[in-house]
Amino acid sequence: MVQHSILVVGCGSIGERHLRCFQQTGRATMMASDTNPALLERLGQTYHVATFTDWEQAIVEQHPAAVVISTPAPWHVPIALAALRSGCHLLIEKPLSHSLTGIDELLELCAQSSQQASVAYVYHVYPVLAAARAFLRQVEFGPIQQVTVTTGQPFYRLRHGYASTYYRDRQTGGGAIQDALTHSVNWVESVIGPADSVLGDCAHLVVPEVEVEDTVHVSARHGSVLASYCLNQFQLPNETTIQFNAARGSVRVELHTHRWGFFREHDTTWTWHDFPPLDRDAPFIAQATAFLDQLDGQPTRLCTIAAAADSLRFNLAALASAVAGARVECRTVHA
Ligand SMILES: NC(=O)c1ccc[n+]([C@@H]2O[C@H](COP(=O)([O-])OP(=O)(O)OC[C@H]3O[C@@H](n4cnc5c(N)ncnc54)[C@H](O)[C@@H]3O)[C@@H](O)[C@H]2O)c1
Repeated sequence: MVQHSILVVGCGSIGERHLRCFQQTGRATMMASDTNPALLERLGQTYHVATFTDWEQAIVEQHPAAVVISTPAPWHVPIALAALRSGCHLLIEKPLSHSLTGIDELLELCAQSSQQASVAYVYHVYPVLAAARAFLRQVEFGPIQQVTVTTGQPFYRLRHGYASTYYRDRQTGGGAIQDALTHSVNWVESVIGPADSVLGDCAHLVVPEVEVEDTVHVSARHGSVLASYCLNQFQLPNETTIQFNAARGSVRVELHTHRWGFFREHDTTWTWHDFPPLDRDAPFIAQATAFLDQLDGQPTRLCTIAAAADSLRFNLAALASAVAGARVECRTVHA
């Protein structure tokens, strides 16, 4: 089996998970880079990996086959451009960025190079979501006309130290729109295509110690499909329900009950497909496996840079719309 050398840049909460989950595939030799030397020392001892405080030096001197970028969002594109120019494959954390600066250059460089580049929107490897999407692609019920997403969790009770991370500031990729809603938006876009325009509202209602929005309502148009996204980061039940409605049937995914179902014309109840619950690392091991498969020449199962750029435009349009109190076209958003 080919062993791939992989450098994780940014080894905080999710970066450490990537380090551990890639290691668990048995197909990667890991290295870690972070600006925090104390963190690196702990990671070096825990995972027995080489560590570097300077990611640029690590790329130049170690020539990793791939770089996993899990710093806060403002660093994603600069590190991605440098790593691509050094010949590395890329797995970039979501959101792709907090602004459009450098995005066209990144898309161009990816198109010109033979390197693999994906974005770690982890919903792409959830078996229950993959099964629902495969079913939806059969368009058995006629075209999808409407989508509703209702999602919430007590984020601040689950994410230790959130108030001192990137989350506290939109300029570092924080707030509910860029940090949380983007997962659902990106996955819905993988089913019905990118949004053209959004009308958004948001507020900071509950999450302590920060002022960024923790509650979001967005009404979007993806072509002729009307979609409604409703999220908060304080409700106690950790629940996500996504429903697709067509004239002759509906498909619903309930992430919290690990099932998807359909309701056809003449049905009187839902038909459910149940999946086993996933432990916290399982999707990230599946994501690492998918990325390594991609490096071994298999087709990608992960989010592309172009699709992540669409989801970035959604984020920026939703934020701009909430400020302006008006509908914003995703293609014309500036930031
Ligand atoms: N896919 C998911 O489920 C998921 C979950 C959490 C976070 N994320 C995303 O991952 C990214 C990081 O989130 P986190 O929760 O791990 O944040 P974090 O604050 O816990 O960790 C970020 C780390 O990056 C390091 N860092 C910052 N600038 C750096 C630089 N220039 N070079 C090297 N290291 C640098 C910091 O020292 C820190 O250790 C964000 O974009 C976030 O949205 C994704």
